[in-house]
Amino acid sequence: MDLQETAKRAQEDGNGVQIQDSNATGEPAVKKLKLADEASKETTAPRPRVKGVAPIKPEYLILAPGQAEADDNEDDDEAEGRTAPEAQDAGQAAKGDGKRNKRKKLKGQNKDREFGTFSDAKRLCNSVAWTPEFSPRPCKHGDRCNVLHDIRKYLAEGRRPDLSTFDGKCPVWEKYGRCPSGWRCLFVRSHMDEVKRDDGRSELVLLVDASKQPLTAESSKVDGGDCGADDEEEAETLDSKPGVVNSVPVNIKMDLSRKRITLDKSDKYLEWLAKDTELYTKHYHAKKKKSGDAAADAAANDADLHDYRANYIEPPLLPSEKRRLYFGPETPILAPLTTVGNLPFRRLCVELGAQLTYSEMALGLPLLQGQKADWTLMRAHESELTTPRFSPSSGASVVQGYDNSRDLRFGAQIAANVPWIAIRATEALSRFLPHLRLIDLNCGCPVDAVYKSGGGSGLLDAPSKLERMIRGMNTVSDGVPITAKIRVGVRDDRPIAHRLVERLGLGSEDMRDWLGAPGCAAVTLHGRTRQQRYTRAADWSYIAECAALVRRFRGETAPAVADTAREPDPRTLPSNGSKSTQDTSIGSGTHMYFIGNGDVFSHHDYFSHLSESGVDAVMVGRGALVKPWIFEEIEKGQYLDKSSSERLDYVARFARYGMEAWGSDELGLNYTRRFLLEFLSFFTRYVPVGLLEYLPPTLNDRPPAYRGRNELETLLASKNYKDWIKISEMFLGPAPPGFKFQPKHKSNSYEMEAEG
Ligand SMILES: Cc1cc2nc3c(=O)[nH]c(=O)nc-3n(C[C@H](O)[C@H](O)[C@H](O)COP(=O)(O)O)c2cc1C
Ligand SMILES: [Zn+2]
Ligand SMILES: [Zn+2]
Repeated sequence: MDLQETAKRAQEDGNGVQIQDSNATGEPAVKKLKLADEASKETTAPRPRVKGVAPIKPEYLILAPGQAEADDNEDDDEAEGRTAPEAQDAGQAAKGDGKRNKRKKLKGQNKDREFGTFSDAKRLCNSVAWTPEFSPRPCKHGDRCNVLHDIRKYLAEGRRPDLSTFDGKCPVWEKYGRCPSGWRCLFVRSHMDEVKRDDGRSELVLLVDASKQPLTAESSKVDGGDCGADDEEEAETLDSKPGVVNSVPVNIKMDLSRKRITLDKSDKYLEWLAKDTELYTKHYHAKKKKSGDAAADAAANDADLHDYRANYIEPPLLPSEKRRLYFGPETPILAPLTTVGNLPFRRLCVELGAQLTYSEMALGLPLLQGQKADWTLMRAHESELTTPRFSPSSGASVVQGYDNSRDLRFGAQIAANVPWIAIRATEALSRFLPHLRLIDLNCGCPVDAVYKSGGGSGLLDAPSKLERMIRGMNTVSDGVPITAKIRVGVRDDRPIAHRLVERLGLGSEDMRDWLGAPGCAAVTLHGRTRQQRYTRAADWSYIAECAALVRRFRGETAPAVADTAREPDPRTLPSNGSKSTQDTSIGSGTHMYFIGNGDVFSHHDYFSHLSESGVDAVMVGRGALVKPWIFEEIEKGQYLDKSSSERLDYVARFARYGMEAWGSDELGLNYTRRFLLEFLSFFTRYVPVGLLEYLPPTLNDRPPAYRGRNELETLLASKNYKDWIKISEMFLGPAPPGFKFQPKHKSNSYEMEAEG
């Protein structure tokens, strides 16, 4: 059966059983489902739940129970442990450990995945790409220009045939009455016309329908006078895409790359920091010597350091004066996700109820070098600028001074291995990006190249450096709050997060005395170590211990943190909500938020972690990739057994949003297809709740081979990347000749080999 036909049939089937329940904890929903199951259990004795295996009802299994295929949990490690191919191209990643890479490759990871050609057979010059046939703009390259200027020829020979998906109508034009892909759009025949002119000639023109929603792109299209239409320039035309914000003009990136931009605040701060570090190092070594001249020297040096720090010029905005944040039970957070947490995916999640979002991790150094790939990661969709949900009555006592109307959803995440990169990149981001909720420092990235250079999870073992980074970032970011995302630690036997939260919240004792707290506005803890693979569950009891510690130093429970130490200057604390002035516990007045993260796969997990661990808010990563409607489940407090046609509709939306963000021309379509396939590699892991014998489902349970309730449901459960390409073709048309997709998941690589 034709796939589109399958999709239609599924729609008619109406196979989506919604498990309705109004209780926010979701418990009754579980009971209800079990009750519904009772009937079948009367005849067949319930099978015990097997750890790591999704408990699919026997009637849907393809293999007999117990015959489950190999576990492919490590997929997630492979998926996370990779920088985006663009980033690799840009030469961002430092050299990794050769041996380890080799081993990984043997395990099926393919570093040089290719996706086939990204451009037309014959290219069209930018000078005519958006103009009526008879009014080309002057071509900068004149006679030397070796790409097409003849629109008819381009339409006939330059590109692949028009697409017939979306009924052959350009989804971008349908919405906005204009199509930024111009003549290159693969649906252009739905928005062009041939008009008879007075002189008898017919002119090809692009149609505009002003009655539709206007394009709200922030920056205007690149000047069409450029020629060459190479990837570089074509990619810049992405700037004009509808609804896309935080596009940084080419000239700024150019100026950055040529070091023509001075970052004054960073320069000043770094100069101060260099001297401070020097004095501090002396002070630290002198402290060990307790007698005679050495003691006198030490005292003199102490005085120097004290004077120096006393003369510290305060930044323009102290942490307490920055825009305040709010994280709470009503703000489920979408985790930063390299490659898969792209703009169209985040837009889908926001529609489904994600209240806060993060960019994919960008690397500090390439940002400072003006590299396009990293600045592109900072783009957001306008839906991410809407205010997050906030209900002051939710019992949160911590929102003094929080102005919801000034808040937005989108935060940036960066990685850096040394303070100067973190600090300068922060200044550049806060200066050139108009829409940032916060800047988050990645202290969790496990990728070898990042870790070994001292960035990402490498910062977990360098608390003093980490503290300097956060202090510096805070100094140069003006009103933008600074946050950090950490892991439990590097190694399983050495959890360190409990020390880090204290350090991030209050600062080291020594710095705190002179400079106050680092002013970190929030810490997110992913409950795993770097060493730990995704096969093992996140440690929520440790998250709870850290949450208790944070509550203690926030003064919400009896203080247990170094009572004798001096209170940091309250102005240096992110006073997201200040406590009573009578409270004298260390850190009272701070409200560093604390967010838990790991393995959340349903509203059930979400609410139980919130109530049991004592975190302020919960972040969801892979759960959202597997079922983006997890945010809707959280909102409604119930499982939603989405039908296959509803799920296919999410795929359709992703395809549309991809074309809006990246273009509906060959280049944009290829991006869209590639990122859609990455998304599908997670999305197809979903096992419909209606097929499960036990709830709640868990993220680490892998399904044995099973059959869905209809053909489409079975297709959407396929682990074969060739099926994913088929799904992409339902919306994006046939994959171009030579199109390749090598999934991150190694199990699929094996599969591919097996299939030859
Ligand atoms: C594919 C993938 C990409 C990720 N990329 C990032 C990233 O760029 N920055 C980051 O801080 N964490 C990243 N993470 C970690 C997640 O943000 C999150 O901490 C982790 O997946 C645990 O949450 P979960 O169990 O809900 O997925 C990534 C994880 C995955 C699976
Ligand atoms: Zn179009
Ligand atoms: Zn030209």
